[in-house]
Amino acid sequence: MIETYRRLYGSVDGLRVFRAPGRVNLIGEHTDYNFGFVLPVALDLATFAATAPAADGKLRLHSIERQETREFDVAGLAELSPAHHWTDYPIGVAREVARLGFAIQPANILIHSTVPEGSGLSSSAALEVSSALAFLGGRELAPLELAKLCQRSEREFVGIPCGIMDQYISVFGREHSAVKIDCRSLDHQLVELPDGVTFVAVNTMVKHALAGSAYKDRVAECAAAVTAIQQEFPSVKSLRDVASQDQFESVAGLLPPVVARRARHVVSENERVERFVASSARGELETMGKLLVASHRSLQYDYEVSCAELDFLVDHALPIDGVYGSRMTGGGFGGCTVTMLRPGAVEAFAASIARSYERRFQVTPRIYRCNPSGGAREVTSSETIPAVG
Ligand code: GLA
Repeated sequence: MIETYRRLYGSVDGLRVFRAPGRVNLIGEHTDYNFGFVLPVALDLATFAATAPAADGKLRLHSIERQETREFDVAGLAELSPAHHWTDYPIGVAREVARLGFAIQPANILIHSTVPEGSGLSSSAALEVSSALAFLGGRELAPLELAKLCQRSEREFVGIPCGIMDQYISVFGREHSAVKIDCRSLDHQLVELPDGVTFVAVNTMVKHALAGSAYKDRVAECAAAVTAIQQEFPSVKSLRDVASQDQFESVAGLLPPVVARRARHVVSENERVERFVASSARGELETMGKLLVASHRSLQYDYEVSCAELDFLVDHALPIDGVYGSRMTGGGFGGCTVTMLRPGAVEAFAASIARSYERRFQVTPRIYRCNPSGGAREVTSSETIPAVG
């Protein structure tokens, strides 16, 4: 990456490199913007932002994967509107960094990512967080503020009403651990996963066009559910506040049927996160697997954010030897599944699922081992800066 930087920008004087990971969410889907619980792990797939000062008042962004450079006047950042382009992510972040009082310095930035784009592994948050660190260039910002800044930028500049999960785990990821995030208090707890299991993501290689608009619809449907539930329980400010599935069923009849199904998913999913964490602590692998499958079915039938490719991967994973459970992960409508299985079963699983998927969809799915990795940071050793180009 350093050689590519030199070729592109001429000099590597003052170069600093920042890394932010993608994630796979084990369980707790579409709960974050309802202020509930999620359980992601940060991956060893990551986005790297290499930055050094520019002398000409410009901010230059080059993506190795896109093979594209865009140039902006630092003085004009506040006037920019979204261009519906990958640079919206770093530009939105630069504006938020500036709003917090950290002046944006002219810079030449090179971006390289090993997080597959549009795969549900949070390539956007990895780009946001690595860019934020590059813009800050070592100036101190509390980790939680960093995550919130990146979420704000995605909501306000990119225009997706996302929750905090992806940015939070990219900042707070930890090696060997999953992270249970309480999306209301914004606290987290490290969850050590039991021995004898590992997680693998399988990429459908598709992202259906519906993803963006359906996400906004789900956010609105959850808000409508809260308004209806408040007629009976005024203290419910978000679906997180519904105490139990029983409490929810006592008011479900007040909601239009589709809205009731959406809310039922969120309420039951929050309970599944708690049960998954408790089962994990007790080493109850079968129960953990069943909770993953229950989560998928709820996303498939009640929340309706799955698709034929994801359902196929889940259905074909479950009978394979050594598999405990499988579900879609991330926003849905394509992207990846996550499968929990015995470590010794990974290779046979990968071969078998790839074969079935190819036969059905004529596409080879990419498969990633989910090795829980550390959160965003500056990369100082040349060994850990990827060699590309
Ligand atoms: C996307 C969003 C997250 C979260 C998930 C679904 O990844 O960015 O905030 O809502 O979808 O769990």
